[in-house]
Amino acid sequence: MCCWTGMMFITMISVHGVASSVTISPSLQGNRLTGKIPEVIGLMQALAVLDLSENELVGPIPPILGNLSYTGKLYLHGNKLTGPIPPELGNMSKLSYLQLNGNQLVGGIPAELGKLEQLFELNLANNNLEGPIPHNISSCTALNQFNVYGNRLSGSIPRGFQSLESLTYLDLSSNNFLGPVPAAIGDLEHLLTLDMSFNNLSGHMPEELGQLQNIASLILNNNNLRGEIPDQLTNCLSLATLNVSYNNLSGIVPPIGNFSRFSPDSQVTNVGFFIFPPPWSGPPKLVILHMDMAIHTYEDIMRITENMSEKYIIGYGASSTVYKCILKNSRPIAIKRIYTQQPHNFREFETELETVGSIRHRNLVSLHGYALTPYGNLLFYDYMENGSLWDLLHGPAKKVKLDWETRLKIAIGAAQGLAYLHHDCNPRIIHRDVKSSNILLDENFEAHLSDFGIAKSIPTAKTHASTYVLGTIGYIDPEYARTSRLNEKSDVYSFGVVLLELLTGKKAVDNESNLHQLILAKADDNTVMEAVDPEVSVTCMDLTHVRKTFQLALLCTKRYPSERPTMHEVARVLISLLPAPPAKASAALPKTIDYARFVIDKGQTQLNAQQLHPQVDNSSSDAQWFVRFREVISKNTH
Ligand SMILES: *[C@@H]1O[C@H](CO)[C@@H](O)[C@H](O)[C@H]1NC(C)=O
Ligand SMILES: *[C@@H]1O[C@H](CO)[C@@H](O)[C@H](O)[C@H]1NC(C)=O
Ligand SMILES: *[C@@H]1O[C@H](CO)[C@@H](O)[C@H](O)[C@H]1NC(C)=O
Ligand SMILES: *[C@@H]1O[C@H](CO)[C@@H](O)[C@H](O)[C@H]1NC(C)=O
Ligand SMILES: *[C@@H]1O[C@H](CO)[C@@H](O)[C@H](O)[C@H]1NC(C)=O
Ligand SMILES: *[C@@H]1O[C@H](CO)[C@@H](O)[C@H](O)[C@H]1NC(C)=O
Ligand SMILES: *[C@@H]1O[C@H](CO)[C@@H](O)[C@H](O)[C@H]1NC(C)=O
Ligand SMILES: *[C@@H]1O[C@H](CO)[C@@H](O)[C@H](O)[C@H]1NC(C)=O
Ligand SMILES: *[C@@H]1O[C@H](CO)[C@@H](O)[C@H](O)[C@H]1NC(C)=O
Ligand SMILES: *[C@@H]1O[C@H](CO)[C@@H](O)[C@H](O)[C@H]1NC(C)=O
Ligand SMILES: *[C@@H]1O[C@H](CO)[C@@H](O)[C@H](O)[C@H]1NC(C)=O
Repeated sequence: MCCWTGMMFITMISVHGVASSVTISPSLQGNRLTGKIPEVIGLMQALAVLDLSENELVGPIPPILGNLSYTGKLYLHGNKLTGPIPPELGNMSKLSYLQLNGNQLVGGIPAELGKLEQLFELNLANNNLEGPIPHNISSCTALNQFNVYGNRLSGSIPRGFQSLESLTYLDLSSNNFLGPVPAAIGDLEHLLTLDMSFNNLSGHMPEELGQLQNIASLILNNNNLRGEIPDQLTNCLSLATLNVSYNNLSGIVPPIGNFSRFSPDSQVTNVGFFIFPPPWSGPPKLVILHMDMAIHTYEDIMRITENMSEKYIIGYGASSTVYKCILKNSRPIAIKRIYTQQPHNFREFETELETVGSIRHRNLVSLHGYALTPYGNLLFYDYMENGSLWDLLHGPAKKVKLDWETRLKIAIGAAQGLAYLHHDCNPRIIHRDVKSSNILLDENFEAHLSDFGIAKSIPTAKTHASTYVLGTIGYIDPEYARTSRLNEKSDVYSFGVVLLELLTGKKAVDNESNLHQLILAKADDNTVMEAVDPEVSVTCMDLTHVRKTFQLALLCTKRYPSERPTMHEVARVLISLLPAPPAKASAALPKTIDYARFVIDKGQTQLNAQQLHPQVDNSSSDAQWFVRFREVISKNTH
């Protein structure tokens, strides 16, 4: 039983969590748990996430798990589970992620899974499942990723797939599927990857495949397809990989994409060929967006970085590696090398980069240029001496103590940068990934927001492939996650989480506990102030400012986007909390924060607040916000 000590932990948490909405997500992932999954887990109805993946669990999946009617994520992948998939799992009505891949499961895919209306990802790959894909799967209309790679499934590909309109990833490869590729697959307009390789599919490649506007990988090798490659595939401008090897196709390769290896009239030879263009098929291309890099050539960059040598690496992101190097004018720059999937469309990518390069604001990290190279896509940014806010708050060094005023100024800088993106840029830019590791600090500790404007062209890293929703766990607006509809209020939500991080010194997610939920629970008991970082309590002269910042953070993270303030409003509230500048000190602080500007803004804030009265003009959203802000403050202080 020693190996199940972790279970005691869950039991305890679930007892506390049963009646509340607090997210409980014990992760026992990768712990070498052995033995069977205990049935008792089925009693823990409040579990939001059950993650037992990558252990050595044996035996069947207990049908009683179907009673976990509040569980959104069930991860049992990477174990040695046997037996069938219990149809009871179809009762887990809140399930969004179901990953049973990499086990030894047998039997069919239960039709009951069709009841999972919120299912976003279904991964059953690498098991021993048999029989057809049930038609009921077409009722899982939220399904985004469907993977049954490496089973013994048979029958034809259900036509019902066409109703899975949200699918971006469909992998049916390495099974025994028969019959044609249904023309209706062409209706899946969001599809990025379609893999049906290593089956026994027959018939022609349907010309409707040409309707897949976004498709990046079309993989049909090792089947029995015959006839010609449809000309319509030339409409698939994002297609980067097309593999039709080992079929019985004939005819001419249509001029698809920018495939340098095949001229438009290449003859299809024999029974197979494939096309796989290199990441960037042209010669290396360096585009300078700002004058300060103007004297550099691509060769200079390669010389300076010794062909992107490891010794210049200063950090790793989810989808990139960051290098530091010194330009010829002895100015340091950060080079971000994106190593995930290629942008779907280079032209769109370049247009976006040019837009980003044209944006300059004191609280935004500038993009100086970019290069499309055999080493991947390189983006050249300002180098920020003092690293990220995440590092300062949670990093291993943690030698710097951040006093309250510094934290407030960092929050103000980030808020102003974000407000600029939301309200002053044309086109307006939604950041999509606001978090403390994207708030960088220059040598004066002024905040600069990084990584904005290119999220659309850069798919999330493979390791995060389970979410099509962009963002980082702990910061993602739940309304955006639920609806996939993005607006700038999603950034406001994430910014609210950053405020909580600044106030408490805690990570957005730690040990699977969620900071926002924690603070909400404390707000209910009126014990929020207990969560304040000691470094803040000892350096803040007026703790009502801390309380107000908590309230602002809670407004930012309100459930409904329309109830959240705009970033302009957030910035003004924060500025109003700054201490008045000492009369003669202003000359001594020219480089850090622009006090003069704060004083003006602060004056406006007070003016706005004073103007308020019940008949206030509804069109003035600022005014409304200050009313609500004051309400919240008074509610929580009395
Ligand atoms: C599982 O749920 C069903 C239906 O709600 C209920 O009858 C059954 O008692 C539950 N099982 C356990 C062990 O709680
Ligand atoms: C759970 O699923 C099983 C099998 O699909 C079914 O018989 C049972 O009625 C379901 N229970 C509930 C509470 O829906
Ligand atoms: C499968 O779907 C059909 C309707 O398409 C429905 O009648 C049937 O009950 C479903 N089966 C299960 C097990 O949910
Ligand atoms: C594949 O299908 C053909 C008929 O289309 C059949 O003759 C062949 O036996 C099938 N192969 C497998 C491995 O099922
Ligand atoms: C295409 O399929 C063939 C045959 O299975 C395989 O050898 C080749 O590596 C594949 N090409 C790519 C680019 O995946
Ligand atoms: C390939 O297609 C040709 C006709 O295009 C046909 O004669 C031949 O039998 C097919 N080969 C196989 C293995 O199906
Ligand atoms: C960088 O690559 C070029 C061309 O491949 C090569 O000539 C040069 O020696 C390399 N430089 C270093 C420092 O590896
Ligand atoms: C694709 O090729 C065409 C013609 O060779 C060229 O004009 C165009 O710029 C290329 N597009 C990209 C993204 O390389
Ligand atoms: C911040 O940057 C300045 C200038 O490079 C440096 O002197 C200082 O040590 C840095 N502070 C921290 C905490 O890293
Ligand atoms: C997380 O867990 C570690 C070790 O189990 C513990 O030391 C730490 O205090 C926990 N952090 C939080 C925020 O609960
Ligand atoms: C303001 O707008 C709300 C709804 O948007 C409306 O209910 C309310 O009556 C309006 N108040 C005034 C004073 O116009």
